[in-house]
Amino acid sequence: MVDVGQNAGSGVLPTPPISRVVMIAAAAAMGGFLFGFDTAVINGAVGAVGKWSGAGPLLLGFSVASALIACAIGAWFAGPLAARFGRIRVMQVAAAVFFISALGSGLAWDIWSLTVFRFVGGFGVGAASVIAPAYIAEVSPANVRGRLGSLQQLAIVVGIFVSLLSNYALAQAAGGAGSVLWLGLEAWRWMFMAECLPAVIYGLLAFRIPESPRFLVGKGRTEEAERILEHYVGGTPTEKIKEIRATLDFEATQSITVIKGPRFGLAPIVWIGILLSLFQQLVGINVIFYYSTMLWEAVGFDESDALLTGVITSVVNIATTIVAILLVDKIGRKPLLVIGSVGMAITLGTMAYIFGTAPTEMVGGEVQPVLSDAAGVVAVLAANLYVVFFGVSWGPVVWVLLGEMFNNRIRAYAISVAAAAQWAANFLVSITFPPLADAGLGLAYGLYTAMAVLSLFFVWKFVRETRGRELESME
Ligand code: GLC
Repeated sequence: MVDVGQNAGSGVLPTPPISRVVMIAAAAAMGGFLFGFDTAVINGAVGAVGKWSGAGPLLLGFSVASALIACAIGAWFAGPLAARFGRIRVMQVAAAVFFISALGSGLAWDIWSLTVFRFVGGFGVGAASVIAPAYIAEVSPANVRGRLGSLQQLAIVVGIFVSLLSNYALAQAAGGAGSVLWLGLEAWRWMFMAECLPAVIYGLLAFRIPESPRFLVGKGRTEEAERILEHYVGGTPTEKIKEIRATLDFEATQSITVIKGPRFGLAPIVWIGILLSLFQQLVGINVIFYYSTMLWEAVGFDESDALLTGVITSVVNIATTIVAILLVDKIGRKPLLVIGSVGMAITLGTMAYIFGTAPTEMVGGEVQPVLSDAAGVVAVLAANLYVVFFGVSWGPVVWVLLGEMFNNRIRAYAISVAAAAQWAANFLVSITFPPLADAGLGLAYGLYTAMAVLSLFFVWKFVRETRGRELESME
């Protein structure tokens, strides 16, 4: 694919058609699709898995949550591996891991084997969450880097949506997630195995796309890097290579490393990446995606309305990500984050107020809020507006920033650390939501509101704009 013109020249080359770099960025973003699919697929399957395995809520909860821990581990190791063996190798391995996990989960013989296969898949999800933003930022021209980086988030949310749809369709076809569908296998097994298809596509694409030029320069493979820059980015590849070289050399002379920085052993910029990741999760976004059915049923929606609300929410998320793609290189990362924090604080605060002040009644031995019709409408509106604000801001922008805010030398490692923190926070929010909700939904949403307010101060004071800047100018 990269084997073009021999005269990787010294002059200014014409800008190649943007579709070329869009194609390779989109291919890398397939990792995001698998990330979204894999994390959401469990929703539709978990009920039937519970019945099939006879596992109690504790074991089932452990089986579900342990995959998020594996994501953190996968993220943690992906960076060092990508720094050593390249971005593409890690993608290929991740694709194989996705495939094995999807097939194994579908053919699991008991809850333990299922847990192991889900755990294995988590390594792939975690790795993909690190590689896609790094790779996309490294192959993109600066003026459209935000847009291309947002493809990662678009792929994640499309993955969530498709897994929801595929679960729904498979359950419909079988007459229930626990009923046999084809080849004597129940629908929930096919839900997992459906992921084999995108895994194969991702793997094939990973064999077709070029290695990151920034990685190649670091390994002394300058000619290859030059050819790739020439084919995908244009401009003056020889100059660019010199710049990349210079930043690698300069950074090598600095004591700024990921691990040995002045504070707590980490460079300050890495802390900013970690905090961006933590806030992205601590505002509670995945409570909406992982628990929406339970949430809406708890306030009196019947099952199909609750499911439908979940589908609408994921469509809203896709639409708003497209808005973010249009805005991120025009108005910049920081303004979007500020708008997002303010909007999330208001909408989360509204939910906290509605749930916190609603009268309660005992349903099946549990205290549940009862919303009036009007309050129910406001709650659904606020929840979806919250997703709108997250979707135009923290969802995509954090992934874009993680891809571009670190210098060439530490990028792979630093994204690893930040993404691992993100998965750990995702795990924390996911396991604490049920007990928090038991204590009162008002309390749960009150906490997320507080996080949204804090995130605003954090962005305001610590996050620097990166729009339009070259990766070589990041410190
Ligand atoms: C971001 C988050 C992910 C979440 C998604 C929802 O990608 O990292 O955890 O599920 O947004 O839009």
